[in-house]
Amino acid sequence: MNCCQCRGMESLFSDKTAAGDLKAYRKKGPSKTTRMLINALKAQGVEEMTLLDIGGGVGAIQHELLKSGAGSAVNVDASTAYIKAAKDEAQRQNHANQVSYHHGNFVDLAPNIAPVDIVTLDRVICCYHDMPALVGLSSQKAGKLYGVVYPRDTWWTKIGVAVMNFGLWVSRNPFRVFVHPTEAVEAVVRGNGLERRFYRKTWLWQVAVYGC
Ligand SMILES: C[S@@+](CC[C@H](N)C(=O)[O-])C[C@H]1O[C@@H](n2cnc3c(N)ncnc32)[C@H](O)[C@@H]1O
Repeated sequence: MNCCQCRGMESLFSDKTAAGDLKAYRKKGPSKTTRMLINALKAQGVEEMTLLDIGGGVGAIQHELLKSGAGSAVNVDASTAYIKAAKDEAQRQNHANQVSYHHGNFVDLAPNIAPVDIVTLDRVICCYHDMPALVGLSSQKAGKLYGVVYPRDTWWTKIGVAVMNFGLWVSRNPFRVFVHPTEAVEAVVRGNGLERRFYRKTWLWQVAVYGC
């Protein structure tokens, strides 16, 4: 991966981080906002559907949707450690044969990724500087549903992110976190013919599902 941001992701989303997230998922299941997204997708119907989970981490969305009847999943992630953790968990849950894995920057890999029924980006949009490319290319792949979790663009999330970025700068990690404007994200998604069907927010995050 030749993008600075992606090299930063490799070191931030390390074996240690992935092991901790996997342990938490095995103990407690998906996090609050991930569960909101999963439930919203399930309410729209996921039976036999194909899933593209970009930046899936330990694969919570893949595992839960496959258990709910989705047909297959593609996992694209810039972190080697997360891909390994997602694979281990897919094996443990006996659905490894339904998932394929691609390591790298989705924006670079997009031309080789086939369209699917459902695309998800759970806490991924905030990890990438070029939001129009990431959201534009990923929403083009969604034949039926597009689900995202990303930070609200409030003053308090902006302050929190500035503090996080200062910490990353001090630790010499080139990775940065971004609060992309909600209106700009929505405009890119709508530009690809998708309409919002579900929306919830917490103090920090917004969860949205779009359909054709
Ligand atoms: C904050 S983690 C979230 C993981 C998981 N979705 C969750 O919510 O627990 C962000 C993930 O997105 C991945 N990621 C961010 N930008 C990416 C890109 N452009 N292409 C592929 N993966 C990306 C990172 O490697 C990491 O696994």
